[in-house]
Amino acid sequence: MKHSGDPILVASSVNINTTHAYQQCVSPDCAATYDVGEVRTSCDACGSLLDVTYQWDQLPVPDSLKWFEQKWARRNEPLCRSGVWRFHELLPFAKPEQIVTIGEGQTPLIETDGVGKYIGMDPGRLYLEYEGMNPSGSFKDNGMTAAFTHARTIGATKAACASTGNTSASLALYCCSSKLMQAVIFIGSGKISYGKLSQALDYGALTVQISGDFDDAMHRVRQVSEKLGIYLVNSVNPFRLEGQKTIMLRVLESLNWEVPDWIVVPGGNLGNSSAFGKAFHELHTLGLIDRIPRLAVINAQGANTLHELYQGRGLRWNEGSPDQSIIDKYYAELDAAQGKADTIASAIEINRPVNLIKCLRALDCCDGVVREVTDQQILDAKSQVGANGMGCEPASAASVAGAKLLREQGVIAPSDRVVCILTGHQLKDPTATVAYHTADQDEFERVLGSRGVSRAQFANRAVKVENNLDEIIQAIQLNS
Ligand code: F0G
Repeated sequence: MKHSGDPILVASSVNINTTHAYQQCVSPDCAATYDVGEVRTSCDACGSLLDVTYQWDQLPVPDSLKWFEQKWARRNEPLCRSGVWRFHELLPFAKPEQIVTIGEGQTPLIETDGVGKYIGMDPGRLYLEYEGMNPSGSFKDNGMTAAFTHARTIGATKAACASTGNTSASLALYCCSSKLMQAVIFIGSGKISYGKLSQALDYGALTVQISGDFDDAMHRVRQVSEKLGIYLVNSVNPFRLEGQKTIMLRVLESLNWEVPDWIVVPGGNLGNSSAFGKAFHELHTLGLIDRIPRLAVINAQGANTLHELYQGRGLRWNEGSPDQSIIDKYYAELDAAQGKADTIASAIEINRPVNLIKCLRALDCCDGVVREVTDQQILDAKSQVGANGMGCEPASAASVAGAKLLREQGVIAPSDRVVCILTGHQLKDPTATVAYHTADQDEFERVLGSRGVSRAQFANRAVKVENNLDEIIQAIQLNS
């Protein structure tokens, strides 16, 4: 694969007419439209989020998802090799020659009875979609290739994001691989795992660390991008979510185009859940799937805005008119209490998810449920993902912990076919992993703070032994 200093700009034989794509306000009462060539993160008329929408009847949409299989035989073409762009016909907002790809989205769906047993599933019913295998180590590359492509079409020279670490790593990678733009990343002064920070630094991003948390950084990056005319790639950018739709397309592809019963995904800024809902809605409308799976969005208990609003206060999509007063009241309470998100799953340590409204729509479309899980449940689940041959960062394991909880509650049946999304690679956050396995409470609290993680039931402690042959042999015999 070409991955040098030269831009990775590719052409393919796909004939996409981008005049049939536009941006549209998600509020059905407003539904204002904007040209696909405009840079926006909200609707001028009413302030809501925007979607990328298509005049499907004017576009060459295949009549069966199986049609995409012909692209496997053309894996030498970058747009067919990319797990995002081989579905170009379902996100046709850019011309092939405008697309920037670094080979993202070549991720496996893994059937695992080991993790399935931990959750309480029948054999053969639990799958993990391993998005940590993307070039920058997280699912973000699915969205970044799409936003980056849009940024290129409008001639951007700088792109910015606020990040808990993965968006910034992904943006920095696309910038330094393509040499098309400079990355400007905003991170909070609190938790960002070294794995992620090291990526942004290595890839040469201009890294701005502000005092505050992710929510503060998000607020600032929006202001700065607008003032300086920098292209914003956070998931308020509707093009990002177009790329993230393809995670669901690859899940279907791996299941021979059969629709699973459940998709379980961690919820942070709620971009993934929103994108998945849009994907299933479109596929169903286009007649490409005959039913829509149920969606479970899992918050960490220390960053549980969606759970609180959806489960606790009954907030719903309500045909496009969610009760804004419920949201405003909750945020006012958070402000009054100076409530800051706090979880070991630093990637989802977010109190003000920017895609909240779109996520409500996805939950409505997918007969969804929302749950919260503790840091203890997250780390235990994470260890089981690792022990069964994969590995993920803490935020990703929220999906597995959430599936286990839903099984225990009888919401998920043992015979259901369940797909949990592993959003980020294990090596993104080794500190949490080592602290868990060290299983020494003092050490755990020294490294990670006191977070109610009181037992590491699956700890795999390192065996400490003197540098002495007999003692080493004895230690191995004792422990094996
Ligand atoms: N899992 C991982 C590993 C993440 O990095 C994120 C988000 C999520 C889950 C949550 O996904 O926002 O679509 O609900 N990370 C962002 C970042 C916020 O800056 O890297 P979401």
